[in-house]
Amino acid sequence: MKVVTCVAPVNIAVIKYWGKRDEELILPINDSISASLSTDIMCAKTTIMASPLFKENKFWLNGKEQTFDSPRLSNCIKAIRARCDGALPQFTWNISICSENNFPTAAGLASSAAGYACLVYALAQLYEIKGEISDIARLGSGSACRSIYGGWVQWHKGDLPTGADSIATQIAPADHWPEMRIIVLVVNDCRKKYSSTSGMKKTTETSTLIQHRAKNVVDQRIKTITKAILNKDFESFAETTMKDSNQMHAICMDTFPPCVYMNDTSHAIVNLVHSYNEYRKGQKVAYTFDAGPNACIYLLQSEVEQFISVVNYVFPQLAGVEYYRGLSLPNKQLDQKIV
Ligand code: ADP
Ligand code: DP6
Ligand code: CO
Repeated sequence: MKVVTCVAPVNIAVIKYWGKRDEELILPINDSISASLSTDIMCAKTTIMASPLFKENKFWLNGKEQTFDSPRLSNCIKAIRARCDGALPQFTWNISICSENNFPTAAGLASSAAGYACLVYALAQLYEIKGEISDIARLGSGSACRSIYGGWVQWHKGDLPTGADSIATQIAPADHWPEMRIIVLVVNDCRKKYSSTSGMKKTTETSTLIQHRAKNVVDQRIKTITKAILNKDFESFAETTMKDSNQMHAICMDTFPPCVYMNDTSHAIVNLVHSYNEYRKGQKVAYTFDAGPNACIYLLQSEVEQFISVVNYVFPQLAGVEYYRGLSLPNKQLDQKIV
């Protein structure tokens, strides 16, 4: 019997991935950039057991048994096993996978990213695989390739039809910008109406705005935000982050029928951030929304106390905002996270 347990971080994109050019290989239309969050507060934790005595393969997620035959799980397992030494005894054993997220699943808080990064990393430990695995995590969920690394991470869309160059790389390490913080304002922790996968598929099929984004917008934003991160220029970072979140949700509205992920509370948070920045005479706080109503707020430590007191005042007893989680950024390398 062999047992491995790993934890992996969620990552919150500042330049968004939204739209695939290949559904099967999960190849994106554009590059994206994110920060991996500290695993102290939000993470996926996955244990994999392999034994010659197991009669079949099993998979549990958050205590509920799931099918083992989903195409994404099968693709990850196939790709990992293709890189493994077939002479290892565990190569022929059945496995049991047990994973839990300590935060809402499928609510637009990157559970698929943390979940598949953790699964693929744990499989790599089980089968003793060294080297690049972000391309395999990508087969589980696109955003998962970025959670393989800590710090600030870029997912390169790649050019090869095989997807071999569609991998994640770290653009700055975990301790590069130690003053950076994220606060997650949880507006609604229910499962979203349409998954990221189905939402972005509809977008690719019906939106014309997405072509403008891919052709004329993203490449420049990737350059601008990389420079902002490397120079620790918060003003430029914040403006680019907010504009990119707004563009992703504009494209969701341009999808037919529209994919509405943000709600009234989300829009109230957007207004609050802009009023706050106007009052503070600069871009001191940045919001970004994934495919859900929950706000991720990037800000520097020096701004945290004042911003939280304003949130508490505007949303008394956290009305509309169910709770918040303050996160220090960024997390360490994933390979230090084996527990
Ligand atoms: P989110 O915004 O939370 O990433 P998605 O719609 O992208 O939501 O993906 C949610 C799906 O990701 C879940 O329905 C499940 O299939 C998968 N997932 C979430 N957490 C895990 C996990 N820990 N291990 C494996 N798969 C997971
Ligand atoms: C809005 O990676 O969840 O969070 O590749 O189909 O699994 P699939 O989608 P997923 O999409 C994430 C979209 C996003 C933006 C981002 O993380 O870049
Ligand atoms: Co996801």
